[in-house]
Amino acid sequence: MTTVIARNLKSLNKELLSKNLKKKKIGLVPTMGAIHKGHLALINKSLKSAEKTIVSIFVNPIQFNSNEDLKNYPSSIEQDIKLLKQKKVDLIFMPKVKDMYPDDFSTYLNLKKFDDILCGKKRKKHFSGVATVVLKLFSLIKPQIAFFGEKDYQQFIIIKKLVKDLNLDIKVVKVKTVRNEKGLALSSRNRLLSQPERDKASKIYSILKSLSLKNLKKSLKNLDLVKSKISALGIKNIEYLEVRDEKFLELYKPKIDTSKAYRVFVAVKIGKIRLIDNLKLT
Ligand code: PAJ
Repeated sequence: MTTVIARNLKSLNKELLSKNLKKKKIGLVPTMGAIHKGHLALINKSLKSAEKTIVSIFVNPIQFNSNEDLKNYPSSIEQDIKLLKQKKVDLIFMPKVKDMYPDDFSTYLNLKKFDDILCGKKRKKHFSGVATVVLKLFSLIKPQIAFFGEKDYQQFIIIKKLVKDLNLDIKVVKVKTVRNEKGLALSSRNRLLSQPERDKASKIYSILKSLSLKNLKKSLKNLDLVKSKISALGIKNIEYLEVRDEKFLELYKPKIDTSKAYRVFVAVKIGKIRLIDNLKLT
C-alpha cells in the first residue's frame, strides 16, 4: 500500500473510514517532524506491532514557551515525507494549526502531577500543551497503541498517566533512546547546533555514564562532580541535573529506598539550544 497524506481533519476521517484502515489495529507515532533515526525507531516498533501505522507531524504551538523557539523549530517536510514513504507508513497526518486549534479553542488539560519538576519547572504550560495535543491526536485517530521515546522520559510518564487517569484504552509503549556514534541522543534540535557545539553535547553522555547508583549511595557529592564535569566542557547553563526514580519521578534521597530504579536527568543550554537527556543508573 502507498502512504496516504491527510492534511486536515476531513481527509483524516475519510482515510480512517477507508477499507485500508477501518477496524485495523492502529499504531500512532506523534512527532513534530524533522524526522530522524530516533523517530524512525518508534515507527519501526509500530510497523512491527500494529497492523497500520500513522505518523503525525504537527509542530504544536501550545507546548512552546517562547515564540522564538517555535519560529526556530527545525522543519524538513519534503524530506520527512520521503523518509516516511520509504518506511511505508500507512498514513501521515499533518494538520494545520487552525485544524487543531480553531479560533474559539478553549480546553486545555491541567496536570496536577509531574508538571512542576524537571522540564516543567521552567517551561510553564509546556506539558499541558503536550498532553492536550496528544489527547486530541488520540481522540482523532483512536489508536490501539502509541509510541513515545525514552529520551523525553517525563513526557512518556505524563502520557502514561493521562491514559490511566482518563481511562483511555490505548497501550503506551516506550522506545529506547537512539544515539549517534558518540552517544549524543538524536533530537530534531541537534540540527541547530554547530559542529563544535555538537561535539560538546556528545560528551555529556559519557559523563552521565560515569555516575552509578553505588557512587551516588556513597555520596551525593558524586552528582556535583558530574555537574562540574559538564561545566568543564564550557557548558555554563545547566538547567537541571537530578536523579529521580523511574516510576514517580521522586528525587533520590540517600539511604531511603534502595529497591527502586533511578535515572539521572539533565537539561542544558548550549548557545540558544536546549538539550535534554536521561539515563538509567546501574
Ligand atoms: P518530537 O520531539 O518530534 O518527538 C516525537 C517522539 O520521538 C517523542 O516520543 C520523542 O520522545 C521521540 N524521540 C525523539 N528523539 C528520540 C531519540 N533520540 N530516541 C528515541 N525516541 C526519540 O516529543 C514530541 O515531538 C512532542 O512533544 C509530541 C509528543 C509530538 C507532542 O507534540
